[in-house]
Amino acid sequence: MRILFIGDIVGKSGRDIVSSLLYSLKERYKADLIIANGENAAHGKGITYKIYKQFLAQGIDYITMGNHTYSKAEINDHMAEMDKLVVPYNHIKRSSDNYYKLIEFGGIRFILTNILGNILIGESSMDAPSAFIEVLEQTKNLKPDFYFVDLHAETTAEKRLFAEYFCDYAKVVIGTHTHVQTADEAIINGCAFITDSGMCGAYDSIIGRDVDETIQFHINKQPTRYTIAEGPAIFCGVLIDIDDKTKTPVSIERIQIRPKENQD
Ligand SMILES: [Fe+2]
Ligand SMILES: [Fe+2]
Repeated sequence: MRILFIGDIVGKSGRDIVSSLLYSLKERYKADLIIANGENAAHGKGITYKIYKQFLAQGIDYITMGNHTYSKAEINDHMAEMDKLVVPYNHIKRSSDNYYKLIEFGGIRFILTNILGNILIGESSMDAPSAFIEVLEQTKNLKPDFYFVDLHAETTAEKRLFAEYFCDYAKVVIGTHTHVQTADEAIINGCAFITDSGMCGAYDSIIGRDVDETIQFHINKQPTRYTIAEGPAIFCGVLIDIDDKTKTPVSIERIQIRPKENQD
């Protein structure tokens, strides 16, 4: 089984690059399943029901989230219908049980879950290891072959630590949230891992946000709106290969496609 994971999709630029590349990437990489992080899809913060449905129509199978899960209030009105959405287990605002999905494909059964780190993430109710131990306990009756964790966290160390400690259970640990793709993809004791899968969003930006506005906010201490950058986008993701017989990952590959004018 081959899974394409798409990093945080940020605003319109991110949505546009995903919709324009998705079909060709699915064909080129022969992906059986596509999972995307959609926590920034609606103007940088959260997701709307309309965008959720657009993602599914484009071929994304499951959407994971992050600290911005509840930024668009309407999400709570549609939560029951959004059965392909996976929200962080340890988000302080979580009120539904859709923090995991049991996915069955080609004889492989795995649980997709979403966990927040708690270093520099104010929306987290507990640290990631404590949260995952609770998820393991609450889903153990499902007896999955392994867990696929979107680990939505700020710091590099807490993500690597998580993969090292839980590699017997979490066979795939993909970092999200920083929007900057790291070059450390590896199989760690049987666990396909990357510290951060990166983002799909405007290339000329500060992690997806408008550069001038971010300078106004951080350097000049000016009040600003949260403006998402526009323009040609970078696409980031990873491809994970799971052996159908051993039901363990055999490879993880980074995908990063920059706008034509920014390619070497
Ligand atoms: Fe994000
Ligand atoms: Fe985030």
